[in-house]
Amino acid sequence: MVVSLNEPLDMHLHLRDGQMLDIVAPLSAETFSGALVMPNLVPPVTTKEAVVSYRQRVLKAGKNRAFTPYMSLFFRSDYTFEFLESVKDEILAIKLYPAGITTNSEGGVSGFDLLELAPVLNAMSELEIPLCVHGETGGFVMDREAEFIPVYEKLARNFPDLKIVMEHITTKDAVEALDRFENLYATITLHHLYITLDDVAGGLLQPHLFCKPIAKRPEDRAALLGAALSAHPKVMFGSDSAPHPREAKEAPGCAAGVFTAPIALQALAQLFDRHGAMEKLQRFVSDNAKRIYGIEPPAKEVILEKSPYLVPEIYEGSVVPMFAGQSIEWRVVSAG
Ligand code: NCD
Ligand code: ZN
Repeated sequence: MVVSLNEPLDMHLHLRDGQMLDIVAPLSAETFSGALVMPNLVPPVTTKEAVVSYRQRVLKAGKNRAFTPYMSLFFRSDYTFEFLESVKDEILAIKLYPAGITTNSEGGVSGFDLLELAPVLNAMSELEIPLCVHGETGGFVMDREAEFIPVYEKLARNFPDLKIVMEHITTKDAVEALDRFENLYATITLHHLYITLDDVAGGLLQPHLFCKPIAKRPEDRAALLGAALSAHPKVMFGSDSAPHPREAKEAPGCAAGVFTAPIALQALAQLFDRHGAMEKLQRFVSDNAKRIYGIEPPAKEVILEKSPYLVPEIYEGSVVPMFAGQSIEWRVVSAG
């Protein structure tokens, strides 16, 4: 059995910088046609110069494969209209992080005072720059996303012309919110379609499955599967592949993030196949994102076949992927 995917897109990807960028960028560039690159570097990407030079480093690390890095800017409430207008053509979206909620988000937004955010959000609406949001409060870890839904609703209601993407949704509540507002969209990761909190902490602790937002309950995963496997028109694939060096994961104070980019298409094929939904995968992994963001990534056809693929234990001796050392039922035969 063989399946062909055209222009697979990863609409939420952490590529890092320096040595890690050199390790992970080629892995995404090999099988994906484009990705929305997250701006949570140290320091975060907040200037036009930083966006432009980061894109150059990503392209160089991607070794000239047919792969478009769609860049994002780290949200700040003090951006001026003139600045946003000048940077608009260099970015696809602006990513908003609540302060301190996840890796390298210390410079994010504290409180969600609409009066404070309004000038930037109005400018983004006018300039048609989508807003991507890490939607978690600082509350109890299992409730953070559900508690954030009223913030999404407030944003969606007050800025009706702003495209708002709820990033890496993990709950039934978020799936339901999608249909209440025309301007709300969402990304779903690979790992949240596979795991619940039980897989992370129900037996021996699995640091490589620890991420923000934390995996939730079986009913939440079922709602995410419902949206992804039906290729809900407002849902896109965004891996949130977030590599950390092995020693930062296998440590007291384990860093948050699951590294999935190199095995994402194989594991998505396995999942959609197992659920008899293979004909929906093209929409989930590409067509929806093309339509929602209005992008035309470079042509790329990825052919997968149903035969066992042994996932590497580690890449470059440094970063451990999801399903490390395990077998996936689908492999990539060619990409180009
Ligand atoms: C991400 C990272 O490491 O950059 N971590 C994660 O657990 N997902 C940040 C993020 O998207 O929250
Ligand atoms: Zn992320």
